[in-house]
Amino acid sequence: MNIIVIGSGGREHAVIKKLKESPKCGTIYALPGNGGMADDAICVPVKATDIQAIAEFAANNDIDYAVVTPDDPLVLGCVDALEKIGIPCFGPRANAAIIEGSKVFSKNLMKKYNIPTAEYETFSDAGEALKYLESAKTPIVIKADGLALGKGVIIAQNRDEACEAVRSIMEDKKFGESGNNIVIEEFMTGPEVSVLAFTDGKCVKPMVSSMDHKRALDNDEGLNTGGMGTVAPNPFYTEDVARECMDKIFIPTINAMNAEGRTFKGCLYFGLMITPNGPKVVEYNCRFGDPETQVVLPLLESDLLEIMLSVTEGTLENTEVKFADKCACCVIMASEGYPVSYKKGYPIEIDSEVKKDTFFAGAKLDGGTLVTDGGRVLGVTATADNLRDAIDGAYGKAEKIKFENAYFRHDIGARALSAGKE
Ligand code: AMP
Ligand code: GLY
Repeated sequence: MNIIVIGSGGREHAVIKKLKESPKCGTIYALPGNGGMADDAICVPVKATDIQAIAEFAANNDIDYAVVTPDDPLVLGCVDALEKIGIPCFGPRANAAIIEGSKVFSKNLMKKYNIPTAEYETFSDAGEALKYLESAKTPIVIKADGLALGKGVIIAQNRDEACEAVRSIMEDKKFGESGNNIVIEEFMTGPEVSVLAFTDGKCVKPMVSSMDHKRALDNDEGLNTGGMGTVAPNPFYTEDVARECMDKIFIPTINAMNAEGRTFKGCLYFGLMITPNGPKVVEYNCRFGDPETQVVLPLLESDLLEIMLSVTEGTLENTEVKFADKCACCVIMASEGYPVSYKKGYPIEIDSEVKKDTFFAGAKLDGGTLVTDGGRVLGVTATADNLRDAIDGAYGKAEKIKFENAYFRHDIGARALSAGKE
């Protein structure tokens, strides 16, 4: 089978490496991919949001299957466009991708179907939002409705910060049109867990749980980023919590989407918080998480392509989704200064052994030399029988990768290691 994978990040590289293990896998094209993936896929310079160019490429290159992983092409209807020309896809149609594309939609869905989440109100008028804040408790959370590169969430510690957040999102349009509508919600506390789940709209098969580290600096300090590292499994996601999530969140969400005529097929990401009142949904994503995928897929023992095809065909129930009883850690190596400003274009030194476990994001080939080309440059993953060894393994590999201005956190997995001792 010849496959196109849409996207260019470490997540896509992890998907591609796993797909290649399948005996059914033929040529993989990454649209656009990045130079760091060139050993694993043919990179084609087509933007992930250029739906028409993606469909044209698929129609003209003997493509059998498409895997659409980033949020924006999914929300823009990439799957719908490819299906229209007869290419089966892994990923939700636009009418289901809205579960990530609009926070107003997802919050209203959870309210309507009794799925546990933070209490909230929605606003399309800044004046009304400001008036509401006069009597609201703080801290409080302000969210832009639409996609905002993962940055559309502001946690306001007091009323002044909350009012400032509303003005910057709704009046100054800090996140563009994404901020025409906002959600103001209750501040929740507790450890966060990411659960990615395969679903064909009939059954749901969760993958191994994971924990992201979103802040730029050690001890969860500094700015929010796309994610500086991950571990799996997440020790806060106990068997009891998993059971509760399945009954109160996962199955009700799949049923709710069906009831709304928006059947979700693909990977549904549940961003959860284990609050003192039980697990609650922080957010849904309509796709694999990044960098969660870089620890989850290395632990997958079953054939990823078979699973994806069964999701497309609606036969997931009969397909094995098995994970190794092991741990994984991924350390993201970024360019110093990320997520604000940073220099790029520095050569990356990496040996072939370490490269096998490396997922490239911001890298490109410059006349045959691999150089840095983004904020998050790469992620390097190790798996082991226990978390301590997985963490040490990932850091051991990171130390062997060299580029000028390399930056990484030193405490990925520390919170997971101390779980139960807090
Ligand atoms: P999101 O983009 O919705 O995942 O939000 C980014 C981060 O903001 C989450 O991973 C949480 O750490 C935090 N967050 C979002 N909503 C809430 C909430 N209601 N209470 C506390 N923290 C939140
Ligand atoms: N790691 C969070 C996300 O993929 O949105």
